[in-house]
Amino acid sequence: MTKAARVAISNQKGGVGKTTVAINVAGALNRRGHDVLFVDLDPQGNATEGLGLEDEYEAEPPTLFDALTDHEIREDVDAMVVTHKEMDVLPSNIDMTSVEPELTMAMRGRERLGKVLDALDAEYDVILIDCPPYLGNLTDNALIGAGNVLIPALAESTSKRALEILFDQIEVLEAEFDTQVRDLGVVANRVETTNEADQMLSWFENAFTDVPVWEVRKRVALQRAFSAGCSIFEFDADCDMAAVFDDVAAELERQFNLKEVTV
Ligand SMILES: Nc1ncnc2c1ncn2[C@@H]1O[C@H](COP(=O)(O)OP(=O)(O)OP(=O)(O)O)[C@@H](O)[C@H]1O
Ligand SMILES: [Mg+2]
Repeated sequence: MTKAARVAISNQKGGVGKTTVAINVAGALNRRGHDVLFVDLDPQGNATEGLGLEDEYEAEPPTLFDALTDHEIREDVDAMVVTHKEMDVLPSNIDMTSVEPELTMAMRGRERLGKVLDALDAEYDVILIDCPPYLGNLTDNALIGAGNVLIPALAESTSKRALEILFDQIEVLEAEFDTQVRDLGVVANRVETTNEADQMLSWFENAFTDVPVWEVRKRVALQRAFSAGCSIFEFDADCDMAAVFDDVAAELERQFNLKEVTV
């Protein structure tokens, strides 16, 4: 079996659109005929609840927490996967709020997610990992376990420092774990028509010359799609931003040699 493409959607800055980008890229990939697994690695469980899986967030063990902390339970990870109309989901759970110290104590505690994903029997084309809004063991697990990162960032000057800190962390992980974490691109998100946004878009273009910089504008339809528990492709495929997420999906197809299945 060919290994699924794995992508961490990460930026330790809060509220920049990680979950929104992850859900809509998942929707775009699904629309293109790919099997997607969405991993909600955020203890807040926003994606899990947003995708209408509140019960999973409250579910009794074993959950993702146990799969990350117990190598025997890890083998049962397929049983933790639930289905959504557009994707499969490995949900977050309330127990994830206490996973950080457990992973600090655990042997190879920052390589656990990769092993959990290796243990999956189900086959996927793409695995998207929605990261929490801080750097810590969970984000390290996502970056190491995926080996690829897609970075949502607001078109605000504070994003510069956030990206600097993220790339410093990636550099440390690459050195410490003798691995590569490839930057697949930046999604400038919630862009409005302001001078600051224009300046930041230019800054992104200059700072990221080797990878695409996509521009997702502020759209109420994206918030409504989230509230409706689905991507923009299910909610309102006519929204102009659907094309941007479709571009991201097309780039992932190119990077990972995925064949588009439907038109
Ligand atoms: N392009 C957009 N247009 C309008 N609203 C947006 C857009 N992107 C995100 N939002 C809204 O902004 C809020 C934060 O987005 P989201 O939850 O995706 O960010 P996040 O980075 O995952 O947050 P956290 O750091 O808490 O995990 C949400 O209410 C979401 O609906
Ligand atoms: Mg989020």
